[in-house]
Amino acid sequence: MNRRISIMRRLRPAVMLAVIMALMPAIGRGDGCLDCHATWEEGAKAPSKLIKFDVHFKAGLGCSDCHGGNPNADDMDVVRKTKGFKGVPKPAEIPQFCASCHSDPVYMVKHNPSLPTDQLEKYKTSVHGMRLFEKGDGKVANCVSCHSVHNIESPLTPTSTVNIQNVPKTCAKCHADTSYMKEYGIPTNQYEEYQKSVHGIALLVNKDNGAPACNSCHGNHGATPPGVTSLGAVCGLCHALVADNFAKSPHKKAFDEAGFPECETCHSNHFVQKPQLNWVGTSDSSLCVRCHAANDGTRGFAVADSIHMALSHLNNAYNRAVGEIDQADQKGMMVTDERFALNDVKQAIIQGANEVHFFDATVVTKTAQDGSAAADKIYNSGQKKISDYYFRRKGLGIATLLITILVIALYFKIRTLEKN
Ligand code: HEC
Ligand code: HEC
Ligand code: HEC
Ligand code: HEC
Ligand code: HEC
Ligand code: HEC
Ligand code: HEC
Ligand code: HEC
Ligand code: HEC
Repeated sequence: MNRRISIMRRLRPAVMLAVIMALMPAIGRGDGCLDCHATWEEGAKAPSKLIKFDVHFKAGLGCSDCHGGNPNADDMDVVRKTKGFKGVPKPAEIPQFCASCHSDPVYMVKHNPSLPTDQLEKYKTSVHGMRLFEKGDGKVANCVSCHSVHNIESPLTPTSTVNIQNVPKTCAKCHADTSYMKEYGIPTNQYEEYQKSVHGIALLVNKDNGAPACNSCHGNHGATPPGVTSLGAVCGLCHALVADNFAKSPHKKAFDEAGFPECETCHSNHFVQKPQLNWVGTSDSSLCVRCHAANDGTRGFAVADSIHMALSHLNNAYNRAVGEIDQADQKGMMVTDERFALNDVKQAIIQGANEVHFFDATVVTKTAQDGSAAADKIYNSGQKKISDYYFRRKGLGIATLLITILVIALYFKIRTLEKN
């Protein structure tokens, strides 16, 4: 009995300490709101359950910093009557609700000086913001449609709804929902097409965060469809070399005047596919013949044909060289140098594809000729290695034969010696 009491005595300070420690965060924050809400709210989606993931909570902000109300009150009715209690904002009120802090540079700089304070300003210029403020349309995206609520996280956190890996799904929540978007009469296939595009595969399958998500092209807060003039700029952010080439081409002026988007006209916006050699040329599968014909009074058709010939020649030369090197390799010949040199030819193929955007046959032809010459050299080297192989094999055959004859001769010689 005595022993038990003494254990209890010894434990009591530890238990007390544990209780105090458990209460500390709440006391430290003075967040009676959270304490009470946590006692009755149920389900993983409840504010008091989600909040532990929230960037605001982690930064020491509580329920009352957003909703207002006295965090020390122990009755919700008292909270509601507190001056400044904002309650639950309606969708159309949310941007201002968040911006009360996020557009206040004096406040924000104290917490995180690196955060921009222009989200509301930009949002107002987006299709979402314009419809919300001008038409009171609550169905467009507001801050919490993209950022979630009570578990708002930094875009850098992998689980954030606005982390680059999750943005396409976040936008698709509305933009791929045909019935939700019905009244607007705009397509709802962006996510579907994007997933099948080089960009979607690069980002979502290969986890290449250098590939664009929806917001890379549309902006985060100024989510607008890029206009005709800004289109080249959007793609050119990442494909700078190609965009430079395009800007020097005869299409630059022609497309601007005709109102054709610079890159999308040939590549599409959401369904960008891996480029094919037969996209340029005069066959039915070529992009050029959509606008150019043999006698349309421009050099377009002829140039398309020349570019195609030059690039086909380069491709064939490359494939022929690869085939020869593979054969030499299979025969056990050393082809490390040739394989290395093939990289240069591969590079020429990529350069050629970039230079297509000059829409000038002389530029591409020069690259293709240099590349083809390099490929032919590699081919010749491979061919020589293969003939060396046969030469050696023949040599080996003869040597083996001679040795065999010698052995047989020796055998008979030894036998005659033994007989003697
Ligand atoms: C003693 C418990 C308790 C405290 C303290 C409390 N709440 Fe509540 N709160 C509730 C309950 C219960 C509801 C559910 C509404 C209802 O049915 O009355 C609620 C509802 C809400 C709502 C929904 C809107 C509304 O008016 O119903 C918000 C927002 C809210 N609380 C925020 C807060 C904030 C912020 C604080 C601290 C300043 C706080 N609560 C403190 C119990 C509490
Ligand atoms: C960063 C600001 C922010 C913080 C912090 C915050 N809320 Fe909210 N809360 C909102 C917004 C915005 C809404 C409206 C959400 C919507 O329209 O979907 C909301 C909605 C609610 C609602 C309505 C029902 C629901 O689940 O959406 C309740 C209840 C609520 N908050 C309670 C709390 C409590 C309790 C805390 C603290 C644990 C808290 N909030 C912390 C911004 C915040
Ligand atoms: C009471 C002021 C306040 C309100 C209201 C508020 N925030 Fe914040 N928010 C902050 C502060 C302060 C930080 C910086 C936290 C830190 O980095 O330590 C922050 C951080 C963020 C971040 C993370 C930014 C980053 O890159 O790290 C996002 C996203 C965010 N808030 C969105 C929202 C949204 C959406 C709302 C409205 C539902 C909202 N905030 C309402 C004060 C507020
Ligand atoms: C259409 C979706 C969308 C809407 C609406 C939206 N955001 Fe964002 N927001 C994003 C995305 C995506 C990012 C991530 C950018 C990145 O990857 O750096 C972001 C980033 C942020 C950041 C981090 C700092 C920054 O500016 O990059 C803050 C803070 C923020 N948003 C607050 C807000 C507020 C406040 C609102 C409402 C006025 C809002 N957001 C509306 C999608 C949205
Ligand atoms: C809450 C639902 C919702 C979310 C989430 C959402 N949007 Fe929207 N978006 C809309 C609605 C509704 C419109 C209005 C359509 C209109 O007026 O044509 C719209 C309009 C647009 C437009 C203009 C379309 C046009 O040409 O009229 C673009 C671009 C856009 N959103 C991009 C995005 C991107 C990018 C994201 C994610 C970062 C996103 N949206 C997230 C609902 C949403
Ligand atoms: C590589 C850049 C790029 C990416 C990535 C991208 N878009 Fe677009 N998007 C565009 C361009 C360019 C337009 C303009 C089309 C026009 O004006 O003809 C557009 C148009 C739109 C429109 C207007 C309606 C339409 O289809 O023409 C919506 C909505 C839209 N995009 C949503 C999205 C969503 C959601 C995602 C992600 C799943 C996304 N976009 C990804 C470039 C992009
Ligand atoms: C944020 C950067 C970014 C933007 C913006 C962007 N791209 Fe890309 N793009 C990439 C990356 C990264 C790849 C490589 C994907 C892969 O194959 O791994 C790529 C691949 C491509 C390819 C395939 C190249 C190949 O050799 O397979 C084409 C074509 C392309 N993009 C066209 C466009 C067009 C057109 C636009 C504008 C509508 C655009 N891109 C906007 C980053 C971007
Ligand atoms: C008139 C049609 C046309 C226009 C306009 C066009 N392209 Fe291309 N693009 C092509 C063709 C054809 C190829 C494939 C060439 C090949 O593979 O031999 C290609 C290939 C590409 C590639 C892959 C090159 C590589 O490195 O493998 C990228 C990236 C690309 N285009 C981006 C763009 C961008 C960015 C723009 C706008 C500035 C643009 N394209 C405008 C026709 C076009
Ligand atoms: C969307 C329509 C369109 C597509 C697709 C297109 N072009 Fe053009 N192209 C034009 C227009 C318009 C002009 C300007 C014609 C003029 O000067 O009257 C032009 C001009 C040219 C010129 C300059 C012609 C001259 O006489 O100076 C060349 C070369 C050219 N294109 C090559 C190509 C090649 C190669 C392709 C395929 C990769 C292609 N074009 C695809 C519309 C297009």
